[in-house]
Parts: sequence; C-alpha cells; structure tokens
Amino acid sequence: MSDAPKPPSPKWVSRLITASVIAFGAAFTMFAYWVTRPQPPQAEPARPDASGPEADRADAPRSDSPAVSAIFARKPDPSLVALGKTAYDRQCASCHGTNLEGQPNWQRRLPNGRMPAPPHDDSGHTWHHPERILFGMVKHGVVPPYAPPGYQSDMPAFQSVLSDDEIRAVLAYIKSRWSPKVMAWRAEALKNLEER
Ligand code: HEC
Repeated sequence: MSDAPKPPSPKWVSRLITASVIAFGAAFTMFAYWVTRPQPPQAEPARPDASGPEADRADAPRSDSPAVSAIFARKPDPSLVALGKTAYDRQCASCHGTNLEGQPNWQRRLPNGRMPAPPHDDSGHTWHHPERILFGMVKHGVVPPYAPPGYQSDMPAFQSVLSDDEIRAVLAYIKSRWSPKVMAWRAEALKNLEER
C-alpha cells in the first residue's frame, strides 16, 4: 500500500507550470528582441569613378552600356561567350591555359622577377577584380593604374589586337566558367561597387 506510486503533489505541478511559463517567456523576449534589433545604417555604395586609381580611365566600360550589362547578367549571352572563347583560345590560352588553368606554379615568381600567368578559373584571382579593372588590364596590360609605376609584367596589352567588344566577349567567356559559389562570393565582395 505504501509503495503505490504517489500522484505528483498539486504544489509541484504548479511550480513546474510556473517555471515553464517563465522560461518560455524569457526565450520569447530574447527572440523578439533579436528580430527587432536595430540594424546598422546601410553604407553608401562606394563610387569607383569618384576616387581611386581606376577613376582615370575614361575608356573603362560603363555599367549602363548594353555590352557590359550582358557581362553582368548571370547567364551571359551564349553568342558573346562563344565569340569570347574563340578570341580566348587564340590570344590568351597560350599563357593562361586552354582550360583557364594558368601556368604551373603561377604563384611563384619566375627567375626574371616576373609573375607567371595566373589561372582565370575559380582557383585564380581574376574573379576578385571588378569588370572595369579586368577590362583595363586586358586592354592596356598590367600597368598603372592597375599596377605600381615601373611594374614589370609579361601580360601583353591587347588594345591593338582586340576590339573593346572582343575584350568584353573574352571576359564574358571567362566569367561563364566561374562556379555559382564564386559568383556569389564575388557579388558579396564587390557589393559596394557600382560595377562588378
Ligand atoms: C604572353 C603571355 C600572356 C598572354 C598571351 C595573356 N596573358 Fe594575361 N597575364 C599574363 C601574365 C604573366 C599575367 C600576370 C601579370 C602580373 O601579375 O605581372 C597576366 C595577368 C592577366 C590578368 C590579371 C589577373 C589578375 O587577377 O590580376 C588578366 C585579367 C589577364 N591576364 C587576362 C588575359 C586575357 C583576357 C588574355 C587574352 C586576351 C591574356 N591575359 C593573354 C600573361 C599573358
């Protein structure tokens, strides 16, 4: 008789309910505070053409030009990409690799003090740069304002070889080879720039 299970005393039941109500209330208050917490003010987007060395290039493409919009679009125009691949295979693949893989040991300086050609795929750093800078480097070479004065580089200038549209097409081809992950990183890294 004495070993029959005792029903929980009403006092304990009410203590348990009170404790649960308090715990739930505290959790809800914290959640509500988190949801409504004050947000930092949105930073003004940086204006790359108002300052910085790349501001100097009057011929850098503008984001409002149709060709550049095509590059910025997530899926570039397939005919632009095809044109870019042809130009890439002809003009760039000898150094940057037929599969955009770059030269071997591309991160190690050559005996002559210059840098090898880096890959243009996900493993390189091409995708770190905004479109205008890439355009400028292909057109003018790795010279000021894209490099310090007197910088010695094996990257040729293509302004007498490729038209501006062909350069944009080559960039569209390179961009078409970046993975969605890199595209997302790039969008995040460059989000304060007017142009990517
Ligand atoms: C003769 C070899 C050679 C050819 C051909 C060549 N490049 Fe390069 N490129 C280089 C080298 C070397 C570098 C590294 C420059 C440095 O850091 O000094 C480079 C760098 C670059 C960069 C800068 C990458 C970065 O992240 O800094 C871009 C963009 C580029 N090349 C695009 C092209 C494109 C597009 C073509 C074809 C139209 C091309 N290159 C053809 C050798 C070449």
